[in-house]
Amino acid sequence: MNADIPVVTIDGPSGAGKGVISQRLSSILRFHLLDSGALYRVTGVVARRQKIPFDAEQPLAELAKRLDIEFIPTGDPEEPMSVLLSGEDITRDIRTDAAGVDASKVARLPLVRLGLRQLQRSFRRAPGLVADGRDMGTVVFTTARVKIFLTASPEERAKRRYKQLKDKDIDVSLLALLDSIRERDERDMNREVAPLKPAADAVIVDSTGIGIDAVLDKVLSEVKKRGIKGG
Ligand code: C5P
Repeated sequence: MNADIPVVTIDGPSGAGKGVISQRLSSILRFHLLDSGALYRVTGVVARRQKIPFDAEQPLAELAKRLDIEFIPTGDPEEPMSVLLSGEDITRDIRTDAAGVDASKVARLPLVRLGLRQLQRSFRRAPGLVADGRDMGTVVFTTARVKIFLTASPEERAKRRYKQLKDKDIDVSLLALLDSIRERDERDMNREVAPLKPAADAVIVDSTGIGIDAVLDKVLSEVKKRGIKGG
């Protein structure tokens, strides 16, 4: 049964390092990878293209339910997946900071979240899944074997995001990034539905001031403690 397939959830605020940790963990374990934020980002990008207002819950939920999305592994650790929308590569469009802010606007809407839930659950396939997001452990995969809540200070997260975007030649200012991280945190933590918070059974890992390898070691030790072997 699908419920027997192991899931590791990695939740936390933006820029905490969830993406890179999830990607490395899924490749070590040979598990599937779900970048749930990408689904909200795509919904936001399509809403903007189709000029659907960000508070139009019903049309946005219909849009979310009908998204024809494919993730294609690239082999590039910096951008491990290309995201295709009905065959169009929209990876670059969804990775801008503005697309992150738009994503957090559509993510406030309960029907949009519901519309994306089945799609997210369909990623639970053998031998296992690493699911990256905000509510993976609290809502989407409540029975996950390991739940990690990865966090870091807003300043550190802004610096990391700045470097990431610069490396991709996306032009940004550090201060503007810090503002948008705070704005997104505020929206994600205070929304009524599926607010960003650790699951009661999550292990909290603060990555402020520690490198990716040390964070990965901590996460791997939790995974091992719970008997997950990988595919
Ligand atoms: O993780 P990422 O930065 O790509 O997510 C973009 C936005 O999508 C987040 O700020 C959040 O508002 C929303 N999101 C969410 N639930 C998830 C993943 C992302 O609400 N599981």
